[in-house]
Amino acid sequence: MSKNSGVRRRGAATLSCLAMAAACSLSAAAPRTGPHGAMDMKEQQRLLDTLHIDGTGVPRDVDPVAWRTIYVPRDNSLTPARIALGRKLYFDPRLSRDGTVACATCHDVSRGFSDSRPVSEGIGGHLGARRAPTTLNAALFETLFWDGRAPSLEEQAKLPIVNPIEMGQPNGAAAAAAIAGDPSYQSLFRKAYGHAPNYDDIGRAIASFERTLIFLDSPFDRFLAGDTHAISAAAKRGWALFNGKARCASCHQLNPSNPLGTDNRFHNIGVSAHDKNFEALARKGLAALGEGSNVQALDRLALTTDLSELGRFMITRNRADIGAFKTEQLRNVGITGPYMHDGSMQTLWDVMDHYNKGGETNAYLDGGIEPLDLSEDEINDVVAFLFTLTDERFAKQNEAAYRAQKARAAKSRPFRDDALAHRQVLPFETRVMGPGGLK
Ligand code: HEC
Ligand code: HEC
Repeated sequence: MSKNSGVRRRGAATLSCLAMAAACSLSAAAPRTGPHGAMDMKEQQRLLDTLHIDGTGVPRDVDPVAWRTIYVPRDNSLTPARIALGRKLYFDPRLSRDGTVACATCHDVSRGFSDSRPVSEGIGGHLGARRAPTTLNAALFETLFWDGRAPSLEEQAKLPIVNPIEMGQPNGAAAAAAIAGDPSYQSLFRKAYGHAPNYDDIGRAIASFERTLIFLDSPFDRFLAGDTHAISAAAKRGWALFNGKARCASCHQLNPSNPLGTDNRFHNIGVSAHDKNFEALARKGLAALGEGSNVQALDRLALTTDLSELGRFMITRNRADIGAFKTEQLRNVGITGPYMHDGSMQTLWDVMDHYNKGGETNAYLDGGIEPLDLSEDEINDVVAFLFTLTDERFAKQNEAAYRAQKARAAKSRPFRDDALAHRQVLPFETRVMGPGGLK
């Protein structure tokens, strides 16, 4: 009896926490009891248990053939032992140099598997140059990081451990040594991979755990499957705008074979163009790359220098990629703000204002970005639609985030006035309406 009530109490606490968490993503009211403001690691794991993630099977919402042939690499098949090991590592701050930072510090279960900050904070309170994207559904991307510099989850997971401002280990061997003294790791690594702890298997195990974080079960999917009541009338209008006047679908294709809503490509949509002399920065970037650029060096340049804003260019050295970043997924977007690679937009209304004005003009702006002339009602509709992309398991958190963002947007829309000032008369408008364009 007392045991039961204990369980129930814990469940209730967890739920209210989930409901609060998104509000906190804007109001900072979420419990930040661990180092660097993250939720305590044990609490996070309890929260994870309430989400009932699938284990080794094919995730319900993913094509089984694609899962087996594309998403899970042949040399790292999913087993319960690998997932369990990866889960322990994901929440273990001992992997960091000073013992205060785990993956879950910046990819926090209570904050949409991100950290609700514009840019992340690692060991010693160091701030990086970019925002932490969510680890939810990261398994379904073709490349990882905002500039796509990691080809797989396995390679991605190894980098933060040795990045000097994230987890700060001097090298991979030191990371393995940091956990090898724990006998439970000795047996978990043997069960999972047949070896003592080592750096490569740390990456492989964490990748296996991340492959269980598939969250694609949203009201929008029920709507697509034929349940016309699954989303509001406003969200339905927003979906039509998304595919039409607002032109979102040209980069964020969203359908059963593209469930994330990304083209997996890189575009300069004018986020990083503020006060940037891209030419000078690109010259500096090429000079830095000339000194040699292995993957760890690129990782440092991306997170610790102003070259970060060059985006994909630092990987391809292709001029068309200057200021270009990966098209972010739109799944669970309601609960993973702030937005963009630099966390510069607080609400989805800010995001819409940015697109509505045609981005920030610069020489490398993607051709797909141009002023949209959406009305305020149309902006509200697209935002309503975006909030239907959050998995049902985060429904409460999503509702709280919607309310918090709406309240914030009612007070502050930093890009809106800017948008009106930037509104240009398009050539076709002059042709159709005469000089002066649309009134
Ligand atoms: C100090 C904060 C911090 C820590 C610790 C951290 N990350 Fe990240 N993570 C980030 C940031 C910032 C980015 C984006 C960097 C970039 O794109 O250049 C990122 C990107 C990612 C991505 C790419 C997602 C995408 O959409 O492309 C994955 C996956 C990821 N991290 C997983 C992990 C794992 C696994 C660990 C632990 C081994 C970890 N992170 C540790 C901050 C952190
Ligand atoms: C030309 C391609 C393109 C078009 C068109 C486009 N996007 Fe994006 N979107 C991107 C890229 C690239 C990023 C990341 C940019 C960055 O961080 O610098 C992004 C980021 C976002 C984000 C931020 C996600 C996050 O978690 O940070 C949202 C939300 C978003 N887009 C929604 C939309 C909507 C809504 C539309 C239509 C009004 C739209 N996008 C049109 C390419 C595009």
